Amino acid sequence: MEEVQHYIEKNKERFLDELLDLLKIPSISADSKYKGDVAKTAEAVKEHLLNAGAKTAKIFSTKGHPIVYGERIVGEKLPTVLVYGHYDVQPPDPLELWESPPFEPVIKKTKTHPDGAIFARGSCDDKGQLFMHIKALESMDRTGEIPCNLKFIFEGEEEVGSNNLEAFCEEHKDLLSCDVVLISDTSIISNETPSITTGLRGLSYVEVEVTGPSKDLHSGVYGGAVANPINVLTSMIAALHDENKRITIPGFYDDVIELSEKEREAMNQAPYSEEAYKADLKVDDLMGEKGYTTIERTSIRPTLDVNGIWGGYIGEGAKTVLPAKAFAKISMRLVPNQDPEKITRLFTGHFKQMAPASVKVKVTPHHGGKPAVTPTDSPEYQAAAEAMEETFGKKPIPARGGGSIPIVSLFEDILGVKTVLMGFGLDSDDIHSPNEHYGVFNFFQGIRTIPYFYENYARIKKQ
Ligand code: BES
Ligand code: MN
Ligand code: MN
Repeated sequence: MEEVQHYIEKNKERFLDELLDLLKIPSISADSKYKGDVAKTAEAVKEHLLNAGAKTAKIFSTKGHPIVYGERIVGEKLPTVLVYGHYDVQPPDPLELWESPPFEPVIKKTKTHPDGAIFARGSCDDKGQLFMHIKALESMDRTGEIPCNLKFIFEGEEEVGSNNLEAFCEEHKDLLSCDVVLISDTSIISNETPSITTGLRGLSYVEVEVTGPSKDLHSGVYGGAVANPINVLTSMIAALHDENKRITIPGFYDDVIELSEKEREAMNQAPYSEEAYKADLKVDDLMGEKGYTTIERTSIRPTLDVNGIWGGYIGEGAKTVLPAKAFAKISMRLVPNQDPEKITRLFTGHFKQMAPASVKVKVTPHHGGKPAVTPTDSPEYQAAAEAMEETFGKKPIPARGGGSIPIVSLFEDILGVKTVLMGFGLDSDDIHSPNEHYGVFNFFQGIRTIPYFYENYARIKKQ
């Protein structure tokens, strides 16, 4: 292991340069204009895998963006780890809010990243974290220390719902067979407080359309007598929460597992400063479900948020118009035991039923995903915890994450294996936002920690 760590130390500069090159390709999965760039990124990832010591690496095309698969099998009797990551990124808009162009990576020092952070779309989510795994493989390969079998699956559709991954897993169960899945696509509490993500929220995402009159009308001639779909939509949305900020959809909370007082107390031990949180977001106050802390509201409680809303006249100046239609995109984050399909059904029924007869309502479901919980008493958790303790000098804290990675539950259902979520980003790294960045320290810390994970995992599984 000393040699592995020494190799990493010696090759840091090149590792970073190679990541910067990867970040220059705009692998935006949501926008078909970038299909070629997504494919080019898949090709680059495949080449990196081969150069790093994978014995085979292949690109599988799908109905959408390609899946990259590679492996390094070292011994029939050794355990097998399947590493998952995604090389696609979110669209960078709004572009004008970026301090440097999203696909021209630069390294800048920040308060939270005094050693510098890489500013680029995908630096943290997830190209930077995926690349740590490739460089960890290279470091183990060159020093002849690979303690278990390694398989890699990197997809290009995570940010648009992993639509083709389920079928791929079903079709390639043997190829993907493994003892555990390892994912670096989550965050730690801070660089001083390492943590391991022990659960993720699920997601139900819908688009709603409210239609009033058959055409846009003069708001003076008709206003006051005809339902305005924007007025109606906004009051319907407002009614989806009560005065305690609980969601009012009947049955919404039925399947939610309430945590015990002891569990809640434990999770609230994690370091958190409300003042710092508010200052970082430049808000004077927070808002959320009554009776729960910020840590709880962003992890163990379900939510409903409007992600976008539009309709009517939004051009320059004033146009007096009573619009025919109004639209909104609404996401619901779900917690363990809630089923996205059931929640989508409950939402649809309720939303249609609450609409006045003066409008028509259409609800279109988008992608969703099941929530996930990962155990803390498993060999993989122990291996990850000891690996982080080695590199951070501190035991990591188990912490639930607020985001979603739908494939975690798919891997469990299809391959019958659990996942360990050993990510190295920070919640403040602005993923999905303008000026996304990833700490240079975090990048190298990931590369240093991953080999320890494999070593520990092989040792624990042998016992
Ligand atoms: N890596 C994130 C999820 C994440 C981020 C989990 C931070 C925990 C902490 C992932 O790429 C993501 O953005 N997922 C989407 C869901 C998907 C279905 C589009 C999300 O959470 O919105
Ligand atoms: Mn991600
Ligand atoms: Mn993401």
